[in-house]
Amino acid sequence: MPTDRILIVDDDALILQALSRILQSEGYDVVAHTDPVKAAEERDFTLVITDFMMPQLNGIELLGLLKAKVPDAVRMLLTAASDFKVASEAVNRGEVYRLLGKPWTMSELTASVRQAVEHYHLVQENSRLAREVAAKNAELMSVNHNLERLVIERTNGLLDGMISALDYRDTETQWHSRRVALFSRRIAMELGISGLELEIIEQGALLHDIGKIGVRDSILLKPGPLTPDEWVEMKLHPEIGYRMLSKMPYLLQASMIVWQHQERYDGQGYPRGLKGKDIHVGARIFCVADTLDAITSDRPYRKGRSLQVAKDEIKRCSGTQFDPEVVESFLRIPDGDWAKIREQVEGLEAEENKRFDGKPILGPGKRMTPPPAPKA
Ligand SMILES: [Fe+2]
Repeated sequence: MPTDRILIVDDDALILQALSRILQSEGYDVVAHTDPVKAAEERDFTLVITDFMMPQLNGIELLGLLKAKVPDAVRMLLTAASDFKVASEAVNRGEVYRLLGKPWTMSELTASVRQAVEHYHLVQENSRLAREVAAKNAELMSVNHNLERLVIERTNGLLDGMISALDYRDTETQWHSRRVALFSRRIAMELGISGLELEIIEQGALLHDIGKIGVRDSILLKPGPLTPDEWVEMKLHPEIGYRMLSKMPYLLQASMIVWQHQERYDGQGYPRGLKGKDIHVGARIFCVADTLDAITSDRPYRKGRSLQVAKDEIKRCSGTQFDPEVVESFLRIPDGDWAKIREQVEGLEAEENKRFDGKPILGPGKRMTPPPAPKA
C-alpha cells in the first residue's frame, strides 16, 4: 500500500517544520507550504492540515478551493481558540472534517491524523464497494433480462407450436391464427393504436382459441350441430385460454382478449355477455378480423369468398356483432393491405415447408371427415 501523503500549510515556517517532523516520524509522506496560494495547486494528497490565519487566503478559503479540486481528501484546520467560532461553522458546513486546537499536544495530533487517514480509506473502500455492488447489480439485471427474454422466446415458441396444432385440428389451416393476428394488428393501427398495445392485440388475436385444447375432439370436430350440453363445453374455451395464459405475467393483457374474443358488441356473445366498450378493444377488433379471415380463406370443402362479400357481411353486422367504430376503420383500409398480409403469411408457410422438404403436413382437401358445423 503506498504511503499516505499529507499536505500541511502554515505561514509560520517553524510550526510547519515541527508538524512536518512529527508526521514524517509517523511514517507519512509530507508536502509542506508556507504559501496557501501555492498549496491550493496541490492535487495528490490524502489529508490536508492547514492553519487558519494566513495572508492572502485563510484556512477555510484554502480548504474550500481544495475541496472543489480534491473532494475525497480529508480536510483539517488548525485554529487558535480565538478563531474557534468561525472554524466550527466551517465544520458544520461540511468543509472541515476536524478542528485541531493550537497549540496541539503530540498525542492529540497523531491520533487525529491517524483517524483522518483511516476515515479517508474507509470512505474510499466504501465507494469502491458501492461501485462494485452497482456493477454487479447491473450485471445481474442484464443476466436477468436476458433470461427473461429467453423464457419469453421459448414460451412463444411453445405457444406457436400449440397454435399450429390447434389450427390444424379446428380450422384445417395452420395459418388461420397468424392471419387473424396480422389482420387485427392492421385494424388496430387504423384505429390509431400503437406501441405495446398493438403488440398485445396481435398476441391476443394469435392465441385467441388456445383454450380449445381443453375441448374434446368429439365436440370440437363434430360434423353436425352441437347439443346444448356440448355447447356448454364449447363455450368454456375462452375461459380455459384465459386461465392458461393469465398465469404468465407477460401474457396477462393478451389473455383478456382471449377471454373476450367470443363476446359481441350487442351483448349476445359469451362467456359473460359483455356489451359495447366493456369488451376489450383488442377483442372487438379481433371479431372483425376473424370474420374477414373466415369468409375469405379457402377451406377443404369450399373456396374462400371475395373480400367484397366479407366487407358487406361485416358492414351488415356493424352495431350488432361488431363495434361500428372498428367496422369504420376496417372499411377505410385499402384492399391491397389484406392481400399483402396474406402473402406475408404464405411466405411464412413456404419457409416452414422448406424446412420439411417442401411438404405441407396436411394440405387443404386431404382431410377425409365431412366439414364441421360452423361454430359461434
Ligand atoms: Fe373462439
